[in-house]
Amino acid sequence: MQKKKGIIDFQKMKKEGEKVAWLTCYDYPMAQFQEQAGIDMILVGDSVGMLIYGYTAGTIPVTMDQCIVHAEAVRRGAPNTFVMGDMPFLSYQTTPEEAVRNAGRFYKEAGVDAIKLEGGRRVTKVVKAVVDAGMVVCGHIGLTPQSTGQFGGYKAQGRTAKTANEVIKDARALQEAGAQLLLLEAVAPEVGKFITEDLEIPVYGIGAGIYCDGQLLIAHDMLGIWQAFKPKFVKRYANIAENMVKAFQDYIRDIRESKFPEDIHCYKMIQGETEKLAELVKK
Ligand code: KIV
Repeated sequence: MQKKKGIIDFQKMKKEGEKVAWLTCYDYPMAQFQEQAGIDMILVGDSVGMLIYGYTAGTIPVTMDQCIVHAEAVRRGAPNTFVMGDMPFLSYQTTPEEAVRNAGRFYKEAGVDAIKLEGGRRVTKVVKAVVDAGMVVCGHIGLTPQSTGQFGGYKAQGRTAKTANEVIKDARALQEAGAQLLLLEAVAPEVGKFITEDLEIPVYGIGAGIYCDGQLLIAHDMLGIWQAFKPKFVKRYANIAENMVKAFQDYIRDIRESKFPEDIHCYKMIQGETEKLAELVKK
């Protein structure tokens, strides 16, 4: 059984140059597999909206209640892994009080170890309030999916010196506000490197290059379950969608050709009972 890592371990790993492996997860069995594999950290992302519920409006419709249900399942599947709950749209942008209450729900109802929220300087008041309530906050800057309307789509951020400087200012402001972890999404490796070296807190990347203190991928992307599109930063480690379709096709064919079920899949009558039954049902 793996020893559950905490924030002190992640700080130590940063100091010692040991990389953190981080994945998203939304359900009990996958959480078990990720823990068995030895993952350091799990994010119950609001990407659940697209990957599990099939929302075409991205993460925007996802509710706190949905996130809690999935976080509870993941917690049960991975009791010895650091689990982070992702604050969905409008669960923290309104007031710091509402943010504390919703972050607290993740802790009280799902037993998470941290929460993540999107935004830089514009959410520092909220970050401070959640930290002051005793919770671990992971900031998320660069491409923040809840604001893709403002970015004009899923676009890499900070690609000019001026906009990269804005991302750096956001990173510094989040650390100053008390965030203990930072996620950088879709920025050039130079920006990832600068922020990782500049901040004292661990900085992880999803599409932010090799220099970050660790990497996050969406499990459904790296497993090849999500087929609609593949962001540039995704490396596929399996093609589960193909395997599933093939298994479903084999099952359908077996049924149509009366090859399933076989003897080994069938219950047996107790000896002598078949003959008795024939007597009983006689008209
Ligand atoms: O919800 C999620 O999976 C995320 C990742 C895109 C970083 O926030």
